[in-house]
Amino acid sequence: MTVSMIVAKGINNEIGKDNDLMWHLPSDLKFFKAVTMGKSIIMGRKTFQSLPKALPGRKNIVLSSDKDFIAPGAVTVTSIEDALKESETEEVFIIGGAGVYKEFFPLAEKLYITEVEFSSDEADVYFPEISLDTWNAEILDEGEENGLKYKHILYIRNK
Ligand SMILES: NC(=O)c1ccc[n+]([C@@H]2O[C@H](COP(=O)([O-])OP(=O)(O)OC[C@H]3O[C@@H](n4cnc5c(N)ncnc54)[C@H](OP(=O)(O)O)[C@@H]3O)[C@@H](O)[C@H]2O)c1
Repeated sequence: MTVSMIVAKGINNEIGKDNDLMWHLPSDLKFFKAVTMGKSIIMGRKTFQSLPKALPGRKNIVLSSDKDFIAPGAVTVTSIEDALKESETEEVFIIGGAGVYKEFFPLAEKLYITEVEFSSDEADVYFPEISLDTWNAEILDEGEENGLKYKHILYIRNK
């Protein structure tokens, strides 16, 4: 099984504020959909609650310490091990948020990163630092939307 992460982050690794994203980039949501469609996706309880509903066409796995947490359209698990056991695809995607990225980071082999030319000191959640000693980067594409430039970069672990 390959553990991959997918995230959109700002210049200083900002990923969100008040349980929401800090930008509106519909083209990035399309990228997210294309990359994750058909796969198992693992997320924290707060990220699940930030979505309008479970993401269709993917097996949604939600981590919570509350085994009775009801996540319609998703499976609730209470540990990283159980989240991976519930995954049904060879490539499983960690889709956030901050705590979950941090916990799975040592297991991740691929990072699908949207680097957004955005910074804010009001963010309250961050992605871990990506060290270029450990990761090889390949730029997949770049664009601009709503006045924000972004790049899609695939990082593959080299050690
Ligand atoms: N920019 C992006 O691409 C992106 C992607 C995803 C999320 N986000 C943003 O990230 C923020 C949410 O992230 P967050 O860090 O606050 O919360 P989160 O990681 O989504 O959820 C945290 C919760 O997950 C559960 N959890 C985590 N690890 C667990 C474990 N090992 N075992 C059992 N339960 C576990 C706990 O739930 P309980 O409290 O129920 O025990 C914990 O409180 C929002 O602002 C969201 O918009 C951004």
